[in-house]
Amino acid sequence: MNTVHGLLLGLALALAHPASHAWADIIDDGEVVFKKCSECHNIIDDGTKKTGPNLGGVIGRKAGTLKGYTYSPAMAASGFPWNRENMDRYLTNPSALVPGTKTTFPGLKEAADRAAVISFLEAQSES
Ligand code: HEC
Repeated sequence: MNTVHGLLLGLALALAHPASHAWADIIDDGEVVFKKCSECHNIIDDGTKKTGPNLGGVIGRKAGTLKGYTYSPAMAASGFPWNRENMDRYLTNPSALVPGTKTTFPGLKEAADRAAVISFLEAQSES
């Protein structure tokens, strides 16, 4: 490896570290935002029943398909996948994306809060 490559590698490593740190901070922020959801949603299956479905592993799941949870007919029929884009639309205004949903949650106004909680859900879905 010549000196220029060595310097570039060092620079890349130096840049990668703060980037991953920022990612961890976003997930921490998301965990704080999730407190607004946890009144109605579990993320870990601890056997307690809440008003809403368990959200562990929700990213990548098809909407309205968690076994053992009784969805509104609107959510059960929605049929789209929970990816970042659909989750952002839902969390902006749940009943705009799924008219007839039984959730009374009005949504999150701040885009940064939505992005953070989605990253938190994504991290929970990967582990
Ligand atoms: C007041 C209770 C309540 C709050 C607070 C709430 N939800 Fe929900 N949520 C529900 C209910 C009830 C449903 C089921 C909706 C249906 O069947 O129409 C639901 C459904 C969902 C679904 C669809 C899940 C699936 O399996 O398809 C997602 C995703 C979701 N909520 C995310 C969130 C997030 C993220 C928050 C916090 C930012 C949140 N909710 C806050 C009650 C709530």
